[in-house]
Amino acid sequence: MEELEPSELGSQDYWEGRYAQEIRNFSSHGDPGEIWFGEDIVDRVIRWINNWNLIEKNKKIVDVGCGNGMFLIELANEGYTNLTGVDYSENAIKLATEIAQKQNLNISYYTCDILQGLPENYDIIHDKGTYDAISLSENAKESRAKYSESVYNSLDGDGVFILTSCNWTQDELDNYFNEKFDRLAIIPTPQFKFGGKVGNVVTSCVYKKKS
Ligand SMILES: C[S@@+](CC[C@H](N)C(=O)[O-])C[C@H]1O[C@@H](n2cnc3c(N)ncnc32)[C@H](O)[C@@H]1O
Repeated sequence: MEELEPSELGSQDYWEGRYAQEIRNFSSHGDPGEIWFGEDIVDRVIRWINNWNLIEKNKKIVDVGCGNGMFLIELANEGYTNLTGVDYSENAIKLATEIAQKQNLNISYYTCDILQGLPENYDIIHDKGTYDAISLSENAKESRAKYSESVYNSLDGDGVFILTSCNWTQDELDNYFNEKFDRLAIIPTPQFKFGGKVGNVVTSCVYKKKS
């Protein structure tokens, strides 16, 4: 699989600077910042989680590369109680913590580089846009391999890994994660038609660990 052209979105400095600005925006006019790929995707993923997991609101869920934490806020509003957000940007964690505190929501946040692994195991590992950012880093090939290993090591045997990407197609994701994971589901995302072909702007896939 060919690597993507590296871009600033693949560097930690870029995210620190961006979230520093978003902290200022949040303090001055309460704007929590960007919801990557739109609210519709968040709603679709949460609907999928609710259907997969009909009753247990205490499933242990981590959002890797959580940014401003808006995905976790939505889960908290749905009644989920065991929520963690990690990001390698300290400013992202500061912003997410401030937003959750303002809404009196109990979400745990800490700074962590997913490539170094997570310290605990989870029932649901969620990623929206973080694998994409990692794929745009200078040493993407090595980083993508570390990412896959970290997710594998921290996913509970019965757990699910939900990945939303705008850089990779469903086939590309399946091919890449196939070694360690089986695809359990595709979460439908809005489609577009171009030149008679139907494509997706954003892809959401759900994987389980191979046993
Ligand atoms: C496109 S943003 C998506 C943010 C958030 N998931 C959302 O959907 O709003 C990518 C995020 O990944 C984080 N990130 C990139 N590489 C990371 C890594 N190695 N470990 C943890 N977070 C990382 C960035 O700091 C940024 O918050």
